[in-house]
Amino acid sequence: MNCILTINGRGYTAERGSLLIDAASDAGFVLCRGCGGKGICGKCSVLCYGRLHDGISDDGGERYRLACHTVIDGDCSVYITKDALTAIALPTQKDIKPSGDVGIGCAADIGTTTVVVSKYDLKSGKYISSTALENPQRRYGADVISRIEYGIKNGVEPLKDALMQAICKETADAQKVIYTGNTTMLLIASGINPAPLGASPYTSPTLFDSETDGVYYPPCIHSFAGADLVTAILASGMTSKTNTALLCDIGTNGETALWHGGRLYVCSAAAGPCFEGYGIKNGTPAIDGAINAVGEDGMVYTVGGKPAKGFCGSGLIDAAAYLLSKGAIKQDGSMNGSQYFDGVELCEGDVREFQLAKSAIATGIALLLKHSGVAVQDIDTLYLAGGLGSAVNPCSAARTGLIPSELQAKTVQLGNAAAYGAAMMLTDEAAKAEARRIVSLSRYVDLAADDDFTDVFTDNLLF
Ligand code: FES
Repeated sequence: MNCILTINGRGYTAERGSLLIDAASDAGFVLCRGCGGKGICGKCSVLCYGRLHDGISDDGGERYRLACHTVIDGDCSVYITKDALTAIALPTQKDIKPSGDVGIGCAADIGTTTVVVSKYDLKSGKYISSTALENPQRRYGADVISRIEYGIKNGVEPLKDALMQAICKETADAQKVIYTGNTTMLLIASGINPAPLGASPYTSPTLFDSETDGVYYPPCIHSFAGADLVTAILASGMTSKTNTALLCDIGTNGETALWHGGRLYVCSAAAGPCFEGYGIKNGTPAIDGAINAVGEDGMVYTVGGKPAKGFCGSGLIDAAAYLLSKGAIKQDGSMNGSQYFDGVELCEGDVREFQLAKSAIATGIALLLKHSGVAVQDIDTLYLAGGLGSAVNPCSAARTGLIPSELQAKTVQLGNAAAYGAAMMLTDEAAKAEARRIVSLSRYVDLAADDDFTDVFTDNLLF
């Protein structure tokens, strides 16, 4: 049964019994989920009144409630400030190749957390606009594993329907549509249950390069190295050159590819959510007031120049680099008490989380070098992709050991390369052919199966 949910004075229809954080997201108000909806970070707190219940008091009076633990029981009103909303990075506003086709082309980058849909004029190749939204499947689990588990228990339909309701609104006027994303997201989008990825031998029923319901799905490399890595590699152009190059998409799942001697060595490393500002005491997505940079002199910079309220990924990496240079963090990550940046605390537990994440990425790079027989100094270019890859200071990334120091001066930051690579395929058959070639030249390296994994990971925990 539906009811009226009023947000900031405007009425929206919401389903009775739905969680406030999900209903707000459906209405276009994407709230921060700092703890993934566990009710412990307080970042989704909003002022409400009316028919809501959160198990604390259900008198309908005006008070702050955690939207992730509040259920809509009837007509109600909430007030959401700009600060409570999540910012989603949009892709580079770059044109694609013109074509003989007339109409609109859409490329959708389906991330586990966010979805970005970009529109292009097919004839001129001109970029028109982008829309970013939260992946509505978040209500069924925060990460890929929980979506797979949900699919095993409940089937793929609820996951697919939630996603399609959001994407189809954006692509309704398009003549051509391409989806990119990790293998699980593409399986769900095409209506295939991702359940096989949740049990040995973890094999995807398809690796795509196919069309379903008028939508083209680019090829994936492996169950855990998806089309988003392929389209990011395509956008970088690295496989059309003869030199040696490394591409790293730094995020919750760090996907890395090494191009050498006509072969592509690929791996996927679970870095956890700290680069997205989650799982650390004062972490935040890159919203206004997020500390996104710390200078060598300790100067603090924030998004929008607003008062500092927490660390986003790039700020966390800079802060750790600064404290290392001051000797306030020791080689093993220990600290003599917390440190403060414009009054915002960074504690030893945060540094520990960061160590785990940076070691995951660094270990992926080290093992790809081992499997390819390439020495780090022989790499000509390091491409950093994804939202954080574009924002991180390469100097701090090298100082903390996230990337090898030899590559600091060879770094090229690409922005949302996965989305742009998918867009290239809208008008260029040669781009599709190159994506197939990328997959055919790829060799997936299973990090956990490598005998050296534990030793290398432990070494990389150190600064
Ligand atoms: S308390 Fe709601 S997302 Fe953390």
